[in-house]
Amino acid sequence: MFETFSHRFKSWLWFQKSAQTRYYIHSPYVFAFYCKVLDEPFNAACLAIEDLWLQTKANDTPVQIEDFGAKKGNYTSSLSYLAKNVAIQPKYGKVLHHFLKFNEATYVLELGTSLGFGTAYMATAKPGIELTSIDASASVQNYAKTFHQSLGLKNINYINATFDDTLPKLLNDYPRLDVVYIDGNHTYEATLRYFHMLLPKCTANTVLIFDDIYWSKGMTDAWAAIKQNENVRLTIDVFQLGFVFFRTERLAKEDFILRY
Ligand SMILES: C[S@@+](CC[C@H](N)C(=O)[O-])C[C@H]1O[C@@H](n2cnc3c(N)ncnc32)[C@H](O)[C@@H]1O
Repeated sequence: MFETFSHRFKSWLWFQKSAQTRYYIHSPYVFAFYCKVLDEPFNAACLAIEDLWLQTKANDTPVQIEDFGAKKGNYTSSLSYLAKNVAIQPKYGKVLHHFLKFNEATYVLELGTSLGFGTAYMATAKPGIELTSIDASASVQNYAKTFHQSLGLKNINYINATFDDTLPKLLNDYPRLDVVYIDGNHTYEATLRYFHMLLPKCTANTVLIFDDIYWSKGMTDAWAAIKQNENVRLTIDVFQLGFVFFRTERLAKEDFILRY
């Protein structure tokens, strides 16, 4: 446990030292990303999701978890704990939302629904998004469904199964992937396994978004290995989230670390 906290703290210090502001960005695409994704304010859709998150943070209802991720096992948690510690926080949910507005995307996949906050930020970005979200824990995914109903969201398809069981068959059904948000089973091996499973469906316009890239040494090593992959042309690191682009028109491979 101490090692994990120490890793996060050191990573945060390193990030603060390395992150660039908009004034040092020479790439027009990355500059547009900064202005249209990171700099965009909370809009009405984001505020409605944040309001639901604040209510959930104050709700101590117990929740049975069947965890197939890094923690593994069955245990009791609560809605408030999950909202505070597991769900995406509004600051980064807003980034997902504006990224899906900024980027052309129809086929969107999420690995790790939990209470469905990330799902909601993405599903509300644009009409026409077909979002599928996978989680092995039925109890949390059922809360997500209820929350999405209360927000009036109808463009979400839920799969209650493990990523490893679902992905091989599910990916066959997709003509391509546009955006995939990978936010579950935070181990080095699993993260790289999912990356390699997704690769055959990635086109020049696909974007993979990895959550918790500094959560543990294993996750940071997985992020470093993904950045090195020969198919990856551009990465953007905003500390909580790492964006991976395959944009083949880019001649030189580049990695950006952006202050947010
Ligand atoms: C960090 S939470 C997801 C948070 C959510 N994306 C959000 O934005 O609020 C991770 C979720 O992944 C699920 N998960 C972890 N490992 C899994 C696996 N191997 N297969 C399916 N679901 C898994 C967990 O049940 C948990 O609900």
